[in-house]
Amino acid sequence: MTESMSSQTAETADKTIGEFVAEDYRTAEVFEKYGIDFCCGGNVALSAICQRQGIDPAVLLREIEAAKREPMERSQNFAAWELPFLADYIVAVHHAYIKDNAGQIALYARKVAEVHGGRHAEVKEIAAIFEKVAADLATHLREEEEIFFPAVKRAAAAKKAGERPELRDIDAIRGDLVRLRREHEEVGDAIHTIRHLARDFALPGDACNTYAVTYQKLKEFEDDLHKHVHLENNILFLKAERDLIPSAL
Ligand SMILES: [Fe+2]
Ligand SMILES: [Fe+2]
Repeated sequence: MTESMSSQTAETADKTIGEFVAEDYRTAEVFEKYGIDFCCGGNVALSAICQRQGIDPAVLLREIEAAKREPMERSQNFAAWELPFLADYIVAVHHAYIKDNAGQIALYARKVAEVHGGRHAEVKEIAAIFEKVAADLATHLREEEEIFFPAVKRAAAAKKAGERPELRDIDAIRGDLVRLRREHEEVGDAIHTIRHLARDFALPGDACNTYAVTYQKLKEFEDDLHKHVHLENNILFLKAERDLIPSAL
């Protein structure tokens, strides 16, 4: 019993964080709990992360197993979804979230910076960084919705029909994969900086309601962005690369 458990531990600890989450999204909560980045920095083996953060891999694997036993709707099995469906889901859920919330959060952050910037210099920096994140994401989402996702959908449809995808779609996908991944990293870094400046969103004693709502919304924004980037980097992009781009080219 002990032997089989330890051999299982050795085997699974070699998997990357991104692989765990791509296979079963319920494991994301465990990584979130331990502050392990599963989207932008998800390409690291579990054993390496544990060593770096002083976590016992056996404990983490036990929690991962427990998370996987929780009921899962069929609808959450993102890795099994076809590319066009996944792209539509991302736009409907995560792009819509950004469009609905980024402007308001930027407004709140600016207000907090004006009122509290004198005593808490970091809120001025947070407002400036978030404003840039919102502007950069607007361009990024447009690129995905108008260029990248349509090319992925056309290529996937062609492949399903037993035809060769158009070369211009393949070129667009290949070029965008580099650009979009880089932009994910930049936005991920900026959001990480905001969390750091906000000291993990701990409120100071003199925080007003707007301050509290701003930090709560920033945290929610970060959480949504992590899920969003995870679905793109670890599932959609890898699948597009594997299924749509001819390896000989
Ligand atoms: Fe996106
Ligand atoms: Fe994206």
